[in-house]
Amino acid sequence: MAANPEKLIIFDTTLRDGEQSPGASMTKDEKIRIARQLERLKVDVIEAGFAASSQGDFEAIRAIAGLIKDSTVCSLSRANDRDIARAAEALAAASRKRIHTFIATSALHMEKKLRMTPDQVHEQARLAVRFARQFTDDVEFSPEDGSRSDMDFLCRVIESVIDEGATTINFADTVGYGVPELYGNMIRTLRERIPNSDKAIWSVHCHNDLGMAVANSLAGVMIGGARQVECTINGLGERAGNTALEEIVMAVRTRRDHFNLEVGVDASQIVPTSKLVSQITGFAVQPNKSVVGANAFAHASGIHQDGILKARDTYEIMRAEDVGWTANKIVLGKLSGRNAFKQRLEELGIKLDSEAEVNAAFSRFKELADRKADIFDEDIMALVSDEQQSHENEYYRYVSLSQHSETGERPAARVVFSVDGREVSCEGQGNGPVDAIVNAIESNTQSGAELLLFSVNAITTGTQSQGEVTMRLSKSGRIVNGVGADLDIVVASAKAYLSALNKLHSKTEKLNPQL
Ligand code: KIV
Ligand code: ZN
Repeated sequence: MAANPEKLIIFDTTLRDGEQSPGASMTKDEKIRIARQLERLKVDVIEAGFAASSQGDFEAIRAIAGLIKDSTVCSLSRANDRDIARAAEALAAASRKRIHTFIATSALHMEKKLRMTPDQVHEQARLAVRFARQFTDDVEFSPEDGSRSDMDFLCRVIESVIDEGATTINFADTVGYGVPELYGNMIRTLRERIPNSDKAIWSVHCHNDLGMAVANSLAGVMIGGARQVECTINGLGERAGNTALEEIVMAVRTRRDHFNLEVGVDASQIVPTSKLVSQITGFAVQPNKSVVGANAFAHASGIHQDGILKARDTYEIMRAEDVGWTANKIVLGKLSGRNAFKQRLEELGIKLDSEAEVNAAFSRFKELADRKADIFDEDIMALVSDEQQSHENEYYRYVSLSQHSETGERPAARVVFSVDGREVSCEGQGNGPVDAIVNAIESNTQSGAELLLFSVNAITTGTQSQGEVTMRLSKSGRIVNGVGADLDIVVASAKAYLSALNKLHSKTEKLNPQL
């Protein structure tokens, strides 16, 4: 192993490519919460969005650029002046900013999607990078669908964009078509054939359609010499998703003997980040998911348990605590005071913007502690999330409900909630208790939204746990998630439904996160 490992740059695109996953669309405040956590995770680059795609995304990037100090903040832009200028405007306040511009280079995309000739694409790529360099000296260029593009054409385009000042070349496997050896070799060949290739950092960007995004990325690093990996938390992303950040980071750390690379990420923040992203997007993490799945460190078989007790490394290659798993620890209770609560928020890295917000969260904590003996970190995180969510869009606000179910009878519910500050009480019946509360709410709101997903997760273990409900609604082409937590899952459902309606009601939410 060489003495001085090189650095592997971790470029997180949860807030951009991850958000392109249908249903994972986030509000500005949700993006800010995730960006803050990504900074705490110490990722090198945060791709905060695609400024020209919507006013909502523009504002989210602008806010993140103003807040984040330790990571570079990046915006995606198509290869045209309008998109690039918009990205530059959104990033103006960033301590460190990057413009990421892209254009498709495969024959299929150029002919069928762009309806442009290769020469036109070449020229547009060159001019885009030249224009982007007027705003920052950190410019990334991606040949979209790179892994299905002609090598001679790629050489021409990439040489030109590096000449124009592109500092990162991101070789995109847009449709997840790559195979590790081939993908890695393509990057190596490009680096060998392009005379100025050493003037840029090479990056990998892989999709997981064939389940090989992580393997392809690592081949791009080891065979191709890439020194930046683009990835998302929990592998979130369009279709089958992107390269999972947690898998890349832990592979490189655990097999340092092989990779001999340094990553700056604070691994102990991986699980908290995974939980936050899952909670905000409503995309649950499968239990057997590497590193962040609930079973990733659980040993059920007797032989394994025996081995672990004798010597941990018999069956464990990583330690759960190193990636941020904590045993469900009772952290606070009914008698805990405001200071203890505030200190725990700080320890969890939760920043509330004002003392008024701390007070509101504390009073919610007290309400919860009256009903639940032991409060865990997960409870605090859910409670703060709920609080922050309700601050964002308060058009609809949950007040109370009563619900009746009895064998042989149709469940009925009465829900009290406020609509723009005015309290209303609505009744409804349904096939089950959740259907009844949704019908009660709809009798007033008449949103007509379609429910795409309803999921309930226990926040901690045991029947005392709070239930966290996610409801995904779709209306007129927009898809939004609402999340609600409560000890009573019917109440959590009402909160989740109202929170989703709030997002549908909000005007700044983008219509379509896709390109
Ligand atoms: O998958 C892709 O090609 C992309 C580019 C915009 C980099 O996300
Ligand atoms: Zn992508």
